[in-house]
This record gives sequence, C-alpha cells and structure tokens, in this order.
Amino acid sequence: MLQKFYIMTFSILDVINAQKELNKFRLNNSTNHERFIFPFLCGSYFTYRKIDVIRIFAIAKTISENPTYLDVGCGYGDFLEKIREYIPNAEGIEKSAEIFYSIGKAKPEYIKIADAYNGIDKKYDIIFVGWMEPGVDYRDQISESAKCIITTFDKGGQCGINGGCEFDGHGFDKIASWVTPSWIDVNTELMNKYYTNNIKAEKIQELRRLRGAHNLWYVYCRPELKNMLKIALEELKSKNIKEKYKHEEILDECGFALNESLPLNPDLYLWKIKIED
Ligand SMILES: C[S@@+](CC[C@H](N)C(=O)[O-])C[C@H]1O[C@@H](n2cnc3c(N)ncnc32)[C@H](O)[C@@H]1O
Repeated sequence: MLQKFYIMTFSILDVINAQKELNKFRLNNSTNHERFIFPFLCGSYFTYRKIDVIRIFAIAKTISENPTYLDVGCGYGDFLEKIREYIPNAEGIEKSAEIFYSIGKAKPEYIKIADAYNGIDKKYDIIFVGWMEPGVDYRDQISESAKCIITTFDKGGQCGINGGCEFDGHGFDKIASWVTPSWIDVNTELMNKYYTNNIKAEKIQELRRLRGAHNLWYVYCRPELKNMLKIALEELKSKNIKEKYKHEEILDECGFALNESLPLNPDLYLWKIKIED
C-alpha cells in the first residue's frame, strides 16, 4: 500500500489514492507514524528536527532584522509552517494547484502556485530548495533571487541534472553542511518494527545495523556574507539547544538520535554541523 510514494515523481491520481490509504490507515492506527509513512500528505520528504529550523533562523536573522524566506516546491508546506513560527512572513511556491484541490485541502495564502523554472518573481534573503525533479535544473533562477540558499536533497540523486544540487558555480560559496535521515530511512525502521509480521527480534536488530541516513543539507551564501554567517553558526553550535518537536521521539526511537553515528558510516554523526574553513 505504501510503495507508490517511493516513486518520487507522482501523478495526481497517486495523491488521491494516497489520501484514501491515509484515511484507512487512520481508522486502525493511533500512532504518530504517519508523517514517515505518508510524507507528502503529512510531513516532509526530508526529516528534520527543531535544530534545523533554529539553524535556518540563525542564518536568517544574521542577514536581516526582518528576513525574507522562500521554500521552493513546498508541497503542502509542512516544513514551511515550522519556519513561519520563526519567520512569520516566510512564503512558499508550489507548481501544482491540483495537489490541493484534488483532495479538498485549502491552500494557505502564503503558498503561491508557480513554477520555479519560470523564475522567482522577488528577491529573498533565503531560498530553501528541498526538491528538484530529476532532469530539471532551476539553479540559475534560484541564484538570481537569493542571498543565501539552503538545499536538502537525497543522496540517491533526485536533484537536477546529474544529481547536482550544488550552487558553487552560481556565485555562491558553501559554508556549512550536515546529514539527516530521509523519510525512507525512518520508514524502513518503522516498517520492520511495527508493520511487518513474523520478523524475529534478532532479525530486527540485524536490519537495524544496516540503517542509513540519506539527506544532505548544504548552506550556500553570497561571498560577502560568508564570514558573518559562519560566525553565527559557530555561536549556535556552542549553545545547548534543548527544544524539540514531538515527532523527534520517533527519530530517537528508530536509531536516528542527534549526534548518533550509524554502523555503516561510523565517522558520520547525524545533525552534526560541519562549518567550512
Ligand atoms: C517531493 S515533493 C516535496 C514536497 C515538500 N518539499 C516535502 O519535502 O515534502 C516536491 C514538490 O515540488 C513541487 N515542484 C516540483 N517542481 C517544481 C517547480 N519547478 N516549481 C515549484 N514547485 C515544484 C512538486 O509539485 C511537489 O509538490
């Protein structure tokens, strides 16, 4: 029932069918797993914690007292909503109006229906690019309109031509990066633990050792902002941020804790920020 959404490019019929499956799922399930099972309808493709939002806000506040922010390809705006708690005028663009009206969901006024490929009609302090369809590349359009670009993309390479989401060649410098799981990484753990019959506890443990984290977050900025943004991120790094979203409990439970290293990549620590020299 869940396999359709592994295919990242989907049709409106897929959205309608997924909504039906979600309604059925809700009848028999009282867990809060749905954002990792129906990520498009109930969550985001990348997983995030409050620290991701706080990092973005620290960058935004360093650029401007009253920062502007655009989420490109925001879908229903799950992550954008979290950003708006810190940057109330943050906006999103979404190519498809149909994703809203096909399932009777109201489109918030802060999400505009527009195709990034046709250009971004305003300038923004931060543009967040969580998605570029395979073979589509609108990095030039984004670069013209942003002071800072934050991308998160799947190592599997859904992003742009040849899997490239890098903005180095577009007048931007990379200043920081970190790694988080994708929804599929978390979904796999949930499926093994809760939704697969006849699987022994030892097998679950064995499979757990194979878990991966496939989302890369990159922060790019115009060269003149580089030093001040790096200082802001260094300052944040030294603070002990305790705030969390409720859904972070699932990440902890599935073996994707903050600073956890995964058996297959022991040198990699989840959410640990790398600030470039
Ligand atoms: C995989 S979904 C991700 C949605 C959301 N960002 C998330 O993480 O759950 C990609 C979204 O980007 C939208 N999209 C794709 N190409 C776009 C473009 N050129 N301009 C604006 N939106 C686009 C799609 O319609 C879809 O809703």
